[in-house]
Amino acid sequence: DNGGYEHYLLKEISEQPDTVARTLRGRIDDRFHIAHLGGLNMDARETRSFRRVKIIGCGSAYYSGQIGAQLIEELARIPADAEPASEFRYRSPVVEPDTLYVAISQSGETYDTLAAVQELKRKGGRVLGIVNTVGSAIARECDGGVYLHAGPEVSVASTKAFTSTAVAFALLALHLGRVRDMSPADGRRICEGLRRLPEQIKEILTMEEQIRALAIKYAEAPGMMFVGRVRGYPVAREGAQKLKEISYVHAEAYPASELKHGPLALISADLPTVAVVPDDELLDKNLTTLGEIRARHGRILMVGHRTADAADDCVVVPKNENELDPILLTIPLQLFAYHAAVALGRDVDKPRNLAKSVTVE
Ligand code: BG6
Repeated sequence: DNGGYEHYLLKEISEQPDTVARTLRGRIDDRFHIAHLGGLNMDARETRSFRRVKIIGCGSAYYSGQIGAQLIEELARIPADAEPASEFRYRSPVVEPDTLYVAISQSGETYDTLAAVQELKRKGGRVLGIVNTVGSAIARECDGGVYLHAGPEVSVASTKAFTSTAVAFALLALHLGRVRDMSPADGRRICEGLRRLPEQIKEILTMEEQIRALAIKYAEAPGMMFVGRVRGYPVAREGAQKLKEISYVHAEAYPASELKHGPLALISADLPTVAVVPDDELLDKNLTTLGEIRARHGRILMVGHRTADAADDCVVVPKNENELDPILLTIPLQLFAYHAAVALGRDVDKPRNLAKSVTVE
């Protein structure tokens, strides 16, 4: 049932205040500023023993894993990185006993991710699953994990599972951090930030008309560039992915810092840029990048926490803690892709050539 929405995709985007609240429910401890994740099946000693975290997933799950890796590095100070599960399983990875492996899947049935988990298990790897579908193949194969509780996701392009996965990673990072070096004060800051998310998402959803108008304006371009630095980069990648998947507009995502090392050659009046610019310690660097794009006559749609002279258009979202901002910055880009696809008359919920979950090799 699409709940009166024209498309499942819009329904699922609009559900996010609720789905994020469900991922958080019962998992924040305000007394000790820790996370309760009952399904991890790891004691405190084991939780402290990991020296690395490796995250795997496909498509949007992989991009949410990039946000997850940054959260774990920043909050728990454990080296972490994400890799497409498909690549991981084909390259004969070194499986280490002091690495925590985390597999992400909305459906829990993606074959590439499942095969990677099975390979890890065969080699003695400790694997957690961040999965939406209870009892799915990947959930069963893992040693423990975190369920998203986001409810069924019908539209092929992932939205609510993406934000819930990022939230689950924030909880996991809090959990790993608080049994290591993370202070109670930092723990409290993150707990409070997490609690603010549902209301802030609601606020972003009220901006739909503005974003729709921008999507109509920019959807005519033959292609778009998406840029972001560090925390903004996975957001840019997911924004480009959403646009490609459902509107078939060519989109590239680059780290803003890499622009001058190649893709700046593409920038012209014909290739607008979506710039993800959070108000964090990299703001000045990002604004300089916007100036470089503008000097090449590139139009700029900035998504961030303020307006900037260098940008043609700005979408200003509510600010949270720096580490949690990527979750919120993702949402305007979902709405942007959705309305671009509608404006172009695309089959939004069932884009050509794609399946909701790829259960074959
Ligand atoms: C792709 C879907 O095939 O699988 C994407 O088109 C999705 O939307 C990806 O992100 C991974 O799916 P899952 O179910 O493993 O999260």
